[in-house]
Amino acid sequence: MLKNLVRVLRGGRKKGPSLEEESLLAQLDLTRLPRHVAIIMDGNGRWAQKRGLPRTSGHRAGVESLRETVRTCAELGIGYLTVYAFSTENWKRPRDEVDVLMDLLVEYLHREIEELCANNIRLHPIGRIQELPPHARKALEMAVSRTRNNQRMVLNLALNYGGRVELVDAVRSIVKEALAGNLDPEQINEFTISSHLYTAGQPDPDLLIRPSGDYRVSNFLLWQLSYTEFWMTSVMWPDFRRVHLLQALVDFQQRERRFGGLNRGEKKCSGTES
Ligand code: IPE
Ligand code: IPE
Ligand code: MG
Repeated sequence: MLKNLVRVLRGGRKKGPSLEEESLLAQLDLTRLPRHVAIIMDGNGRWAQKRGLPRTSGHRAGVESLRETVRTCAELGIGYLTVYAFSTENWKRPRDEVDVLMDLLVEYLHREIEELCANNIRLHPIGRIQELPPHARKALEMAVSRTRNNQRMVLNLALNYGGRVELVDAVRSIVKEALAGNLDPEQINEFTISSHLYTAGQPDPDLLIRPSGDYRVSNFLLWQLSYTEFWMTSVMWPDFRRVHLLQALVDFQQRERRFGGLNRGEKKCSGTES
């Protein structure tokens, strides 16, 4: 089993897993992986500033962390990965920084499209995509269309995403359906709301990872995180590597999820609520 995993995670790398990675892999139970992992990719600016570099070099360096994380999650068999790339509040930043972020997105999509296809990953942007600049929308359309039949893993790319506007959009569409006579307001329940979110049809995240030492949600997946396990690290996103992901997964498997019940001691953490 361990040998298999080591072989799987060697994929594309000249060097195999480090000793620490091998030891984490040995502790990992592949039958109890989270079905859905969400990541707030934070700390790019501070990473760059610490090195006397412009903030934008931090964003550029963060792309490598994303590449490695996406590949590892797919190889391990995680079904859904949601990464927070640009929030509805990030427009407050200087115009130059926003422009670089949009350009990096386009560059990432063009550079990674073959790898996403080779790894059978479907790209699913979440957020108010219609408000992004035209070149970003065009690259997203290309990547969505090229990957639409892929089935190994869904990569939700949160762009111009905010948990609150997601709920606003869901409420608007529910009200429209009700006004059109297609939905009885008395029948609205939690499932109705979940199925009007950008993540409709997907399981809620089991594990949320936030690098960079901040302990907040920053308007991410407000509805979906209701019973998610949180894993925070002071490592900045550009330094986030496979070993950190494995640490988070091993830690996740030590947790006892109770979902408000009392099943203390009966069952350790697993990706599915049952
Ligand atoms: C995360 O890194 C990337 C985006 C929010 C787009 P930051 O740019 O927020 O980096 P810090 O938090 O300032 O270090
Ligand atoms: C969250 O990081 C958004 C993304 C990583 C895209 P921020 O840097 O925007 O969050 P705050 O402002 O520190 O809460
Ligand atoms: Mg930040």
